[in-house]
Amino acid sequence: MSRNVMLKYPFKRIREGKVELLVPDPKAYTRPDGVYEPAWAPIFYNPRMVFNRDITVLFLYTISKHRNIELAVDSLSGSGVRGIRFVVEANSMEAIVNDRDPEACELMEENIRLNNVSEKVKVFCFDANLLHYLLPEIGLRADFIDIDPFGSPIPFIDSAVWATRSNGYIAVTATDTAALTGTYVNACLRKYHSRPLKVDCEKEVGLRILIASIVLRAASRDIAAEPVLAYYADYYYRIFFRITRGARRADKLIENLGYIKYDVETLERTLVKGYPIPRNTNNSGKNMYIGPLWTGSLGNIGLLDEIDKHIPELPWLQTASRIKLLIDRLKCEYNVNRVYYRLDRICSKIHKSMPKISELIECLRSKGYSACRSHFDPRGITTNAPLEEIISCINSLVQTF
Ligand SMILES: C[S@@+](CC[C@H](N)C(=O)[O-])C[C@H]1O[C@@H](n2cnc3c(N)ncnc32)[C@H](O)[C@@H]1O
Repeated sequence: MSRNVMLKYPFKRIREGKVELLVPDPKAYTRPDGVYEPAWAPIFYNPRMVFNRDITVLFLYTISKHRNIELAVDSLSGSGVRGIRFVVEANSMEAIVNDRDPEACELMEENIRLNNVSEKVKVFCFDANLLHYLLPEIGLRADFIDIDPFGSPIPFIDSAVWATRSNGYIAVTATDTAALTGTYVNACLRKYHSRPLKVDCEKEVGLRILIASIVLRAASRDIAAEPVLAYYADYYYRIFFRITRGARRADKLIENLGYIKYDVETLERTLVKGYPIPRNTNNSGKNMYIGPLWTGSLGNIGLLDEIDKHIPELPWLQTASRIKLLIDRLKCEYNVNRVYYRLDRICSKIHKSMPKISELIECLRSKGYSACRSHFDPRGITTNAPLEEIISCINSLVQTF
């Protein structure tokens, strides 16, 4: 492969995790007002996504303690950072890095050389769907596929689940949160076949819609895609799915589809199983029906415990303390499995000033309920207490204003 790209643009050498990388020099693409967007550079590398990549490395490292990760595929790779990290840091025996942009492929080759992993990391320069369909044809199935696109991952799901071996995993990033959280209803209907609503728990609505949509796409091929780790951070969603084959397994997952019944007068919200969702979906009146969406737990608590346990074994992770905090929150949220309430919204509805979230959580726990801070929103709480009990706790903690 030619090495023209190295002469064409200015690059900068950086370190992420345990790897060295050449990435486009942000200085060359920074506006006079100091603003820099990674998409303005000729090849994409976003330093702000290191949290996303660190969690992925930790996830793969954890999984590799239980089974061989023979092949990990980084289907939309940009600089090659993920695939190289999978091999260097997460015990993946081999990785494929792929991008349809030939200049990105040249840079990936450079980065592979820089890290001495040419034996283990191979570059493909295809459309990601083409790559996914090619793999089984050449006798390869992936243990793990990472889908990290611009916007929605949906165009790559059908082929990715097809290319993944049974008991393998796929991970997806979605940055089109405006569609999923109800700003662009038609975009959500089009891409995710679900009706969102701009409500005070819209971040959870978006995540649950995205999961349901991927579960259904996989199910259409008799493949079960079960969410094992899902979260929201920095304006994107990230979900890891365990992939198994079999119509019955896929049917079982579909039993977790349903909707959120949202009462606009009281703000009460309830996850209800049932697919397809009720007909009264014109969303007028007291009750709104949001969905279809995933009503099951957002992930697997046993896996969170495992990931948590392994954090100290990867001391080079730059975002370890943030990962730890997220995992602690998710453990409680996955266990409670209720849609979060926003404390500021409840208080404004009942004309009370806001108590401290920690005090509210304490009050609910003292009444025997589970309660925790929501990772979706700093003003959010996740609890299995009914709304009346939340209000009763607020009343006991603060004065009327
Ligand atoms: C968000 S960037 C990937 C960032 C990278 N995963 C990381 O962590 O730094 C998306 C990449 O996908 C590539 N891309 C877009 N559409 C593609 C397609 N259909 N097939 C393969 N690559 C594609 C773009 O060239 C771009 O490099």
